[in-house]
Amino acid sequence: MKATAKAHTNIALIKYWGKRDEALILPTNNSLSLTLDGFYTTTTVEFREELTQDIFYLNDECISGIPYTRVSQFLDLIRDIAKKPNLFAQVKSTNHVPTAAGFASSASGFAALASAGSQAIGLTLNDQELSRLTRRGSGSACRSIYGGFAEWDKGEKEDGSDSFAVPIAPQDYWDIRVAAVVLHADMKKVSSRVGMKRTVDTSPFFKGWVDSIPQDLKQIKSGISERDFEKVGSVAEANCLKMHATTLGANPPFTYWHDTTFTVMQHVQMLRKKGIPAYFTIDAGPNVKVLYLPENEEQIKQELESIPGVTDVILSKSGQGITYI
Ligand code: PMV
Repeated sequence: MKATAKAHTNIALIKYWGKRDEALILPTNNSLSLTLDGFYTTTTVEFREELTQDIFYLNDECISGIPYTRVSQFLDLIRDIAKKPNLFAQVKSTNHVPTAAGFASSASGFAALASAGSQAIGLTLNDQELSRLTRRGSGSACRSIYGGFAEWDKGEKEDGSDSFAVPIAPQDYWDIRVAAVVLHADMKKVSSRVGMKRTVDTSPFFKGWVDSIPQDLKQIKSGISERDFEKVGSVAEANCLKMHATTLGANPPFTYWHDTTFTVMQHVQMLRKKGIPAYFTIDAGPNVKVLYLPENEEQIKQELESIPGVTDVILSKSGQGITYI
């Protein structure tokens, strides 16, 4: 009744932005990501007969409040599938995701919890079933089941049974890298949940965003299959800009960008003019992630570190999918 799993975070190159069902976490568009080896969560779940409620430790600290409730409600889903409604668990998680790196640890966190939890209770789920379950914890987490490139198929059904991620290319398919550029930015955060909802409900640009996705996906998948870095990078960068444009059209309008975010974006575009292939992408926060190739690693790191307002640059390779320890 005990299992330990390790899951890595992922960066979306085609973003998930907008839900059609909030409760089931069903997206309005397909998304595509690269799993990263530098950032991961390790989670041990142990179901024990004598427990009268779940217990959750994160980085050795006993957790209560909203994060506890999210974990416990997720375990309810696992208990439901296993038909063991009164069996509670002790969950111990360690995040190897520097919080400052601007990666939400929810992707690696829920992927590790879903895999350790389902295995501990005795379920044997295939990757699609595991991805579908993980989606209920955090949408983007459903892509972290796989190494390398993965696509989350939004599905068509109302019950979400066909909404899960599938592998596109494994970890060792292509050595493409990501630099997480950490900024000195102190901003009030609009969570991805709140930001998405406001965009869906009020932004006149949202329809344009959704309509543009099939073409972006087609392009990026052909870029991946040809190992064409310029093609993959330019589609990812343009897709990120479109996602962020929808927030400016929302009511009230908002943006995740900080002035240094903009400076880094311009710097990356300038690097390209100098002949160094590099492309940026940005999630629901001010930090920038830069895609690059191994032969340019040293120069990319130096250039990014030299930008005023940048506090750290953390490098990562393509990562692996779920592993059980
Ligand atoms: O899964 P969430 O609720 O953390 O939302 C993720 C949203 C983005 O990071 C902006 C895009 C994505 O696809 O990961």
